[in-house]
Amino acid sequence: MFQDQTVVITGAGRGIGASAALQFADYGASVVVNDLEIGPADETVRTILSRGGQAIAVAGDVTDPAFPEQLLETAAAEFGGLNVLVNNAGYTWDGMAHRIGDEQWQAILDVHLTAPFRMIRAAAPHLRDAAAAELESGGPTVNRCIVNVSSTSGLHGNIGQANYAAGKMGIVGLTKTIAKEWGRLGIRCNAVAFGFIDTRLTRPQEIQEESIEIGGREVALGIPAKVRSMLDKDIHARIPLGRPATIEEAAAGIILLSSPLAAYITGHVLEVTGGMGI
Ligand SMILES: NC(=O)c1ccc[n+]([C@@H]2O[C@H](COP(=O)([O-])OP(=O)(O)OC[C@H]3O[C@@H](n4cnc5c(N)ncnc54)[C@H](O)[C@@H]3O)[C@@H](O)[C@H]2O)c1
Repeated sequence: MFQDQTVVITGAGRGIGASAALQFADYGASVVVNDLEIGPADETVRTILSRGGQAIAVAGDVTDPAFPEQLLETAAAEFGGLNVLVNNAGYTWDGMAHRIGDEQWQAILDVHLTAPFRMIRAAAPHLRDAAAAELESGGPTVNRCIVNVSSTSGLHGNIGQANYAAGKMGIVGLTKTIAKEWGRLGIRCNAVAFGFIDTRLTRPQEIQEESIEIGGREVALGIPAKVRSMLDKDIHARIPLGRPATIEEAAAGIILLSSPLAAYITGHVLEVTGGMGI
């Protein structure tokens, strides 16, 4: 399905991004695996190689303004071009709106909105220019698309996530704008809004003791007890399928939108939620 195609996925060292990287590779893509640190990115690449696929790891922080160009240049140099860009990297830094500090607000907008924008801008020469040249020569056009990762927090808001919800709604506007601006070149741009996926972002914060180091600051990951106490007692009851998704099920939404099955789908927000919110 993705033979001879290059896929770049940010935040693919673990969780949904890692699963998407494995699935793309299983379907024949050459995958560029980005994550903050080289360790987890290498781990994903090792798994892909052991399954007979093709991948390289590129460590780096997507919020570094210079990084998007670097990442995409590396992808083009290594695998010759770009077909699919997945803006997946992210984390949460939760708190009640009246307590969110400026740094906490900005950091989350940076990773969920500004970084994907810069990635898309940096992808323009690789996607737009390549598509324009193909169209001009009258040759066949290949699959070129972007998948941005949003959230039901962006679509509906969520207690404790004013910063995250703003970023995840912002990316919906960005997605639809790119779909309109780049559509004539045959380049599609869609978003996946995940509901409740079982990763370190949704497990109880104090129990898992997971954190991410950003700009020298340690941010605890997972849902804090105080926020959990304000959410529905039984979150599973709000999900028609009655359970959270696995990372494989979540990543399949990204694969679907990137695939030829979605050749005429653009500007769409696919809710991968087990029916939550309908
Ligand atoms: N888990 C859920 O229920 C859920 C729901 C809705 C949306 N999402 C979104 O899905 C995406 C993946 O999340 P996940 O649940 O797999 O979490 P995860 O923590 O398992 O994986 C996210 C990866 O992104 C990386 N990352 C974070 N900041 C980065 C940066 N600045 N530069 C490069 N890499 C960075 C992390 O190191 C991590 O490996 C995120 O955008 C998240 O907001 C998740």
